[in-house]
Amino acid sequence: MKDVNVGICGLGTVGGGTFNVLTRNAGIIAGRSGCNIRISRVASRRSRDDLALGNIPFSTDVFDVVNDPEVDIVVELIGGYEAAKELVLAAIANGKHVVTANKALIAVHGNEIFEAAEKAGVVVAYEAGVAGGIPVIKAVREGLAANRIDTIAGIINGTGNYILTEMRAGRDFAEVLKEAQDLGYAEADPTFDVEGIDAAHKLTILAASGFGVPLQFEKGFTEGISTLTPYDIAHAELLGYRVKHLGIARRREDGIELRVHPTLVPKSHLIAQVDGVLNAVMVDGDAVGQTMYYGPGAGDEATASAVIADIVDVARSVAAESNQRVPYLGFSPDAIEDLSVLSMEDIQSAYYLRIQALDRPGVLAKIASILSEHGINIESIMQKESEFKDGRIPVIILTHTVQERQMNLAIEEMESLSDIADKVIRIRAENFN
Ligand SMILES: NC(=O)c1ccc[n+]([C@@H]2O[C@H](COP(=O)([O-])OP(=O)(O)OC[C@H]3O[C@@H](n4cnc5c(N)ncnc54)[C@H](OP(=O)(O)O)[C@@H]3O)[C@@H](O)[C@H]2O)c1
Repeated sequence: MKDVNVGICGLGTVGGGTFNVLTRNAGIIAGRSGCNIRISRVASRRSRDDLALGNIPFSTDVFDVVNDPEVDIVVELIGGYEAAKELVLAAIANGKHVVTANKALIAVHGNEIFEAAEKAGVVVAYEAGVAGGIPVIKAVREGLAANRIDTIAGIINGTGNYILTEMRAGRDFAEVLKEAQDLGYAEADPTFDVEGIDAAHKLTILAASGFGVPLQFEKGFTEGISTLTPYDIAHAELLGYRVKHLGIARRREDGIELRVHPTLVPKSHLIAQVDGVLNAVMVDGDAVGQTMYYGPGAGDEATASAVIADIVDVARSVAAESNQRVPYLGFSPDAIEDLSVLSMEDIQSAYYLRIQALDRPGVLAKIASILSEHGINIESIMQKESEFKDGRIPVIILTHTVQERQMNLAIEEMESLSDIADKVIRIRAENFN
């Protein structure tokens, strides 16, 4: 059995998990890959006494791994943008294959990295960067290779999903965020998770591998969950919907929709049932229909599971000395379509609206008339006398699907009415029919 040498850069959560699973399951992994995958060198800022490194050379400089002629596959698990980019490009320049869990790196610098990899004839694999342990990239790229994929949508940030799940019990965002931080689910600086940036990184990668378009992170739309209230979550429930923080990528003739925002999902849809820190991705293919991939989106060994799946994939081709590899985005580079991301005004969605109406006669008629002028049909409307307070009463409306541009105009007009107090609250809704 041929040896394939792996060098791990970064021995943190995922690096440690990868080391332990590769060591513990070496026999199973050899059986599956048909080669002997050896950890031949590791590097990280600090060593870890809890890992059984034995005689494996350790250094604090990750470039020792990249410059080691014995290493076939460099596993980048240091995270971040700049140092990781330098490391990955240096590995490629040295003719080494790369496996990474770094979604930020791939979403932002992936086009440049893949181009370099293509020229050098090496592979850059990134399964663990999207939905942690769930093998969704492989599913999209290989398992669904027969399909034209038009929609990919998912819960791709466990921290946000944990917070929304807890808010269903009537708890405030700030209180649940603090709890998530105490439990270790959320970072001290939670911006990437709660403002949707982390999800947008993953969605960018999913859209590129699903639709065969370039990575276009900077053009996506991102709205976080920090302004959601238990009130709106409870009223969405009354209407038969659950609020989820979704990444939605939709391929249209004129471009692609790429957006992360709180979304009402029918309670009966599988995505609505995914609670806590778990992730789920729905992929709609023209041949297969709707498929769902569900599981842990983070964690040391769960993420290591995806890192090692990539190592096995690459190791097989190294051992076979074959050039027949799955292209980096699952499409041959000359088949990548230059389909651009649509402006948010051009997306289509249904909407939940909460309008603070003053208790005056005719307000409902004015709201209905503004919506109708903009071609917006109402699916349901709710107004409860019991919620009348300080001369105001909230009007909750669920609309049919309409272009965001029309909704922006309607909201602007409603907010200019003297009968409406405050800004109109809007949450987008999807039926996934
Ligand atoms: N954690 C997860 O569940 C998860 C899931 C999916 C994907 N990921 C991705 O996996 C990657 C690693 O995440 P992680 O959670 O394992 O992070 P982590 O626990 O912070 O581990 C990173 C490790 O790399 C070391 N390091 C960072 N920069 C370095 C440098 N320039 N030179 C040498 N060592 C360096 C760090 O050292 P110090 O400890 O000294 O800083 C740390 O040991 C990230 O891209 C992340 O987005 C993580």
